[in-house]
Amino acid sequence: MRKTIIAGNWKMYKTVDESIELINELKSRVQNPTTNIEVVICPPFTSLVVAAGLLKSSAIKLGAQNMSEHDEGAYTGEVSWKMLKSTGCEYVILGHSERRQYFGETNDLINRKAKKALAGGLKPIICVGEKLDEREQGITQQVVSTQVKGVLAGLSADDLKRVIIAYEPVWAIGTGKNATPLQAQEVHQNIRKLVAQLFSWTVAEGLIIQYGGSVKPDNAADLLAQDDIDGALVGGACLTAESFASIIGSAPSR
Ligand code: PGA
Repeated sequence: MRKTIIAGNWKMYKTVDESIELINELKSRVQNPTTNIEVVICPPFTSLVVAAGLLKSSAIKLGAQNMSEHDEGAYTGEVSWKMLKSTGCEYVILGHSERRQYFGETNDLINRKAKKALAGGLKPIICVGEKLDEREQGITQQVVSTQVKGVLAGLSADDLKRVIIAYEPVWAIGTGKNATPLQAQEVHQNIRKLVAQLFSWTVAEGLIIQYGGSVKPDNAADLLAQDDIDGALVGGACLTAESFASIIGSAPSR
């Protein structure tokens, strides 16, 4: 049975002091998630080292929000997989729609980043999702399939054991308008079918597919109850310990 992974994407929020406060509060609220639930927080780069120290004695795992496709070099402002590993990160979010939209990230670039992350021992949380006009045109499936094929190109079945896909409809991110559980389930199921075609059923059945886009304490349980929804990537609602802990608490025990 697949695990449920609830990850918090802090985006560009929280100074070091604010991060310490939030992590300490989270630790007191999320003491022992049941064995089939994994909790990950993805603070900004500047808080990773301090976060790793605070999470040492905790079940909460650490992730970053982005990573360079290069190993090292003259790339001002970039952060490499090796640097992330050295802070204690286990996960890295790749290809978030905000990276695609504001920083021009393409499926090809995200694919190269995913390969680097995997080779470096990080688990990539790779984001896909359609825009509002694409959903309205009825091309959600084509858009998401193209993204999934692009970001997973050249990966092995073995790599897929460490990959997480986050389905995040762009129109649902930060808008308060989540996809309905059935809308999300339909896309998740189609992603799983596509991965079965590209790799195998065994790979597809093991793949963790998170939903993201306005996940909140009051809609998390219904979303997470869907067969093919294996977790959540949470933005706004992960910025307070109370709401993030409440989302974690609504994950079904499978
Ligand atoms: P949101 O963000 O929960 O604030 O909609 C989700 C995300 O961007 O990962």
